[in-house]
Amino acid sequence: MPPNPALELATVSLIGQNKIAVVVGATAGIGAAIARLLAKLGCSRVYIVGRNAARGQAMVDILKKLAPLPSATHAEFIQGDVEAVKGMRATAEAIQLTVGSGALDYLVLCQHGMPSGQLEPLTTDGLCPDLAVQCISRFALAYLLTKNGALAPGATVLSIAGTGQSVDDLDVEDLSFAQRVGTAGKRSTEFFWLQSARDSTVLDAFHQELTIRYPQYRYVHMAPGLVSSEKFNYDTFPGYTKWLVWIGMKATGQTPDEFAPTPVYILAGPNATEALGSTNRYFTHKLAPVVLGKWASDKGNRQRCWNKLCEIIGETYEEA
Ligand SMILES: NC(=O)c1ccc[n+]([C@@H]2O[C@H](COP(=O)([O-])OP(=O)(O)OC[C@H]3O[C@@H](n4cnc5c(N)ncnc54)[C@H](OP(=O)(O)O)[C@@H]3O)[C@@H](O)[C@H]2O)c1
Repeated sequence: MPPNPALELATVSLIGQNKIAVVVGATAGIGAAIARLLAKLGCSRVYIVGRNAARGQAMVDILKKLAPLPSATHAEFIQGDVEAVKGMRATAEAIQLTVGSGALDYLVLCQHGMPSGQLEPLTTDGLCPDLAVQCISRFALAYLLTKNGALAPGATVLSIAGTGQSVDDLDVEDLSFAQRVGTAGKRSTEFFWLQSARDSTVLDAFHQELTIRYPQYRYVHMAPGLVSSEKFNYDTFPGYTKWLVWIGMKATGQTPDEFAPTPVYILAGPNATEALGSTNRYFTHKLAPVVLGKWASDKGNRQRCWNKLCEIIGETYEEA
């Protein structure tokens, strides 16, 4: 049976352990709640990343107040917009400059929000913004911070987004789906679900490659279920999806602070790796293991995806 994260964390203290966390997308929503819980547990340094400086600074003040001892937690805001490749790379550099090398224990990736159900307006790199922030920026930050030596020994990189879905005929040359949808700019329910499945497929594919290429670190990808983040807005869901989500939220939804113990358990829970299965990397919001979808299970697909993602962020790729 999956562990009860809140119960397991009740006896956990990170005070004095010199743990360093970076939570990207932590000025609101799930990321903010994860940062709050890490501060409450006495995580030595909690860095939060996002675009909105006012919300970021307000969060820093909250984190300082939540620390169990005044000196237990250093909190800081790092401003970064990861929609464009230039911003992804600048944010990775800013994180490494601030945190130092070989020091980052927990990298948590929560940036963005729901798929939009539309393709445009494209980013300055010519990508669908949903793909750019939800998938490409997570790859860029996880990969660059790994490759450039920012991670501490045994570090965990945890990404919060849907997992286990598959677009079986995904073409890495058309990740934004510009060719597939043709009628660029039109918002539709079908496109919303396709984007959602695409994001899961791409995220799973590169997480699996990171796991294979860098076995010294732990790359975990978990779905949050439905979480009523401050910015959650039913009107952003196209067509009937709005009503499905409304019903789902009433039936199973959690607040960000109710959900936060689950991802934080993965990071800091006592014996979490053993309890969750030492080789499991993909989880539901209830910590049940998720099996990789068909597309991401295929080595050739993953290799093509990895090469394409490297190309997009301007990195030379190496064969696995
Ligand atoms: N909530 C749910 O029910 C649910 C369900 C399934 C999946 N998810 C996924 O879980 C993750 C977190 O969801 P959430 O509900 O917490 O989202 P949210 O409330 O919309 O928060 C998103 C965070 O990402 C940051 N962000 C957005 N665009 C950014 C950019 N271009 N550069 C840097 N930071 C950016 C925002 O900060 P700034 O505005 O300050 O930049 C904010 O801190 C998302 O990836 C979402 O797709 C959520």
